[in-house]
Amino acid sequence: MNILLATAELTPLAKTGGLADITAALPIEWKKQGHNPIVVLPKYSIFDPYKYGFEPTDIVLFVPVSHWLEYARLWKGVIPGSDVPCYLIENNDYFWRDGIYGNPNEYADNDRRFIFFSRAVFEVAKVLNFQPDVIHAHDFHTAFVMAFLKSHYRNDPLFVNTAGVFTIHNLAYQGWFDPKRALDFACFSQNDFYPGSWFEKNGVVNSMKVGIMFADKITTVSPTYAREIRWDYFGEGMQDYLNERGGDLIGVLNGVDYSLWNPEDDKYIYKNYNIKTIDKKKENKNDFLKSMGLTNKDDLEKPIIGMVTRLTDQKGVDLLMNKLEYHLYNNDFRFALLGSGNQRYVEYFNYLAWKYPGKIFVHIGYSEEIAHKIVASSDFLFLPSRYEPCGLTQMYALKYGTIPIVRSTGGLADTVFEYVPEKKLGNGFLFINYNAEDMDFAISRALQIYYNNQDWKQVKLNAMSYDFSIRSSAEKYIQVFEWALGK
Ligand code: ADP
Ligand code: GLC
Repeated sequence: MNILLATAELTPLAKTGGLADITAALPIEWKKQGHNPIVVLPKYSIFDPYKYGFEPTDIVLFVPVSHWLEYARLWKGVIPGSDVPCYLIENNDYFWRDGIYGNPNEYADNDRRFIFFSRAVFEVAKVLNFQPDVIHAHDFHTAFVMAFLKSHYRNDPLFVNTAGVFTIHNLAYQGWFDPKRALDFACFSQNDFYPGSWFEKNGVVNSMKVGIMFADKITTVSPTYAREIRWDYFGEGMQDYLNERGGDLIGVLNGVDYSLWNPEDDKYIYKNYNIKTIDKKKENKNDFLKSMGLTNKDDLEKPIIGMVTRLTDQKGVDLLMNKLEYHLYNNDFRFALLGSGNQRYVEYFNYLAWKYPGKIFVHIGYSEEIAHKIVASSDFLFLPSRYEPCGLTQMYALKYGTIPIVRSTGGLADTVFEYVPEKKLGNGFLFINYNAEDMDFAISRALQIYYNNQDWKQVKLNAMSYDFSIRSSAEKYIQVFEWALGK
């Protein structure tokens, strides 16, 4: 199957979150399964294309925007570490900036940047004479791809048989655009914008709605999130459209690229280990603590709870703020955080780091290396999310025998199962209601197991035996694509 995947993020070139990991892992796996994927990404200035083996081609694209044509240079390479062709769209007016979406605030012309990119995707296929069976777009940034496929390119011989599949990674980011600008840039008539039209929500253009309405099939990244978003609480205003399109909506659980996240050959961690040598995990913890100057027995024996996350309201940081200081004060556990985002949360963690040195490790910023070290060295991984479309870090943690403590929502509910000592089953600890007492009760159950040698070993073995490989996600997407093609 010929698959054209359009995305605003791709690991390891441009990443703010899990979207990048998935848009890289899926095509690599499709290729292994005998399909023919290509990936299209903007050429941002935040990565050095030469470092990853990309070269400029002498192909110039002519991209229709409003009543004129804009130009883009095409770069060619592969998704690093694979043989999947990857094309970069170079237009320095749009993408030569020090962020992907903004820094720190969203760029004011994100409407124009991403509409341009979404349109360029078709021009790439045309110059390459690549006839996609499916175009797979991700999140609001590439939602207009779905609209273009069904309008401007509908009768283009290259795309007459092409299906459009739109994947929702996070409903909270919708791309609200000024209608006059957005429809003009996208070469639609202002007459296409009226209350209730496929472009409109609350008087503005809503890109997420565009993706949902124009796609042949809609997927989201876990079965539970696919159910949740039909309700007001999780729907972020999109629930009516998602229900209208309910027959075409399905959840496909994300998966892990175990060539990047596996304690057996992880190049970032202190000591490699696997399920048979699980005792070596402890050496990672010791070395991690040592790197912080902590070597006494008390330090080494206390559990470490780790978090690697964007610091946003989604991730439940406000719940944690109710309890964390109390636990640090009581010396219940050590806490390790790697994250960046909301200034309010950054200040809170910096304050704790100042007040409780040696009990909490805080690294504000982005670091692949520290992410791997925390996942391998911690005893628990904490994710008290308010909502979580899928969540990848808990799946990574499981492979490392690092036990997730999570709120039971979205993909967390599909991957983490309560450890029941009587049955010796389960891989983590969960709470259901979004409140700090329930969260704390899950933490206390987790700590109890930590201090029981037999159960502690058992829960780690259980965790490490789960397989959330991207292979099965990739296969399911192919089924969705076939469904979209009416096969
Ligand atoms: P989301 O996409 O909502 O942020 P996911 O769990 O799907 O959540 O994916 C997060 C990804 O981003 C993971 O690969 C995680 O390791 C990575 N990540 C998050 N914050 C950081 C950070 N500060 N430094 C390095 N990696 C990070
Ligand atoms: C989003 C979600 C996260 C999901 C990721 C990849 O950023 O917040 O839960 O795992 O996309 O699909």
